[in-house]
Amino acid sequence: MASQLITTAAGLVDRHGRVATDLRVSLTDRCNLRCQYCMPAEGLDWLPSEQTLTDDELVRLLTIGIERLGVREVRFTGGEPLLRRGLASIVARTKAIDPDVRTSITSNGLGLKHTASSLARAGLDRVNISLDTIRPETFATITRRDRLHDVIDGMAAAKSAGLLPVKVNAVLLRGVNDQEAAELLRWCLDQGYQLRFIEQMPLDAQHQWSRAEMIVADEIFERLAKQFVLTPTGRERGSAPAEEFLVDGGPATVGIIASVTRPFCGDCDRVRLTADGQIRNCLFARDESDLRAALRAGASDEELAERWRAAMWVKLPGHGIDNPEFLQPQRPMSAIGG
Ligand code: 5AD
Ligand code: SF4
Repeated sequence: MASQLITTAAGLVDRHGRVATDLRVSLTDRCNLRCQYCMPAEGLDWLPSEQTLTDDELVRLLTIGIERLGVREVRFTGGEPLLRRGLASIVARTKAIDPDVRTSITSNGLGLKHTASSLARAGLDRVNISLDTIRPETFATITRRDRLHDVIDGMAAAKSAGLLPVKVNAVLLRGVNDQEAAELLRWCLDQGYQLRFIEQMPLDAQHQWSRAEMIVADEIFERLAKQFVLTPTGRERGSAPAEEFLVDGGPATVGIIASVTRPFCGDCDRVRLTADGQIRNCLFARDESDLRAALRAGASDEELAERWRAAMWVKLPGHGIDNPEFLQPQRPMSAIGG
């Protein structure tokens, strides 16, 4: 069968011709913030520890991904990846598999001031920090914690440790921080951080996302354009989701990620592994493939690789958020990883 032939090819190919080389690994579903667009105030039912992959299990899957399946980039996410004990060791062990594989984390930055230099020594290449405002009151409203100063210190520590570029992800919420887009950009430019705005996606645990309420990419652009001259960089977007603009002639840039209104699914090169060892071929996938069960049942490396390839082969062409029959995935963002 043709599909059998193709699924046994080397990399993580799908039937629409995309090849996944960028692996997002969620290391924990826990978080020390409670961002409104992500989690309810009381938190969620966390994964029991016996369901979470151990460091050794994770490193085995990473080795298979890198050595057999063509993974070239590993992003550690959460929840909050800094809450995973052993993060530095996981990074070092990933780099030991292949020093050319790029490693990064998507973090809220809390505590990063204590760990940035050890992460850099372990071989971490860069960080993405989630930060939606630089006003302490707005930060407390969005995250339900008064910790803005910790995030800012963490970012500074990342910069001094050479975890560059420090990228910033921001989500705008109507009536909360949507008036602060330009101010956040000005601050990031002053600090030398690369800011990208992300359209809010229907991935919140509370299922409160509303298409009508969300701030769309065009609106973000218009808000920024009132205070800055934005010109397209002319760089091909490729598999990078951000539309990039030079700010006031450059060289600094700002990105706008129109995940909902201008999806980039056709160029997607990502695959996700959850903290409990499930392969998700898309953020919005409704099915997962259980590598943990296979691994614990004694599967060989090639059997695990084959299961992983099969999970990718059936990746859907797009997320379909605008389809009337769209259903939000069961797992919230905090249990998938960004
Ligand atoms: N829509 C868009 N971005 C989100 N993030 C978390 N939840 C959402 C959502 N519903 C962002 C976080 C973080 C990254 C993992 O994704 O701010 O930067
Ligand atoms: Fe934590 Fe990130 Fe969710 Fe905020 S968005 S609660 S920082 S996992």
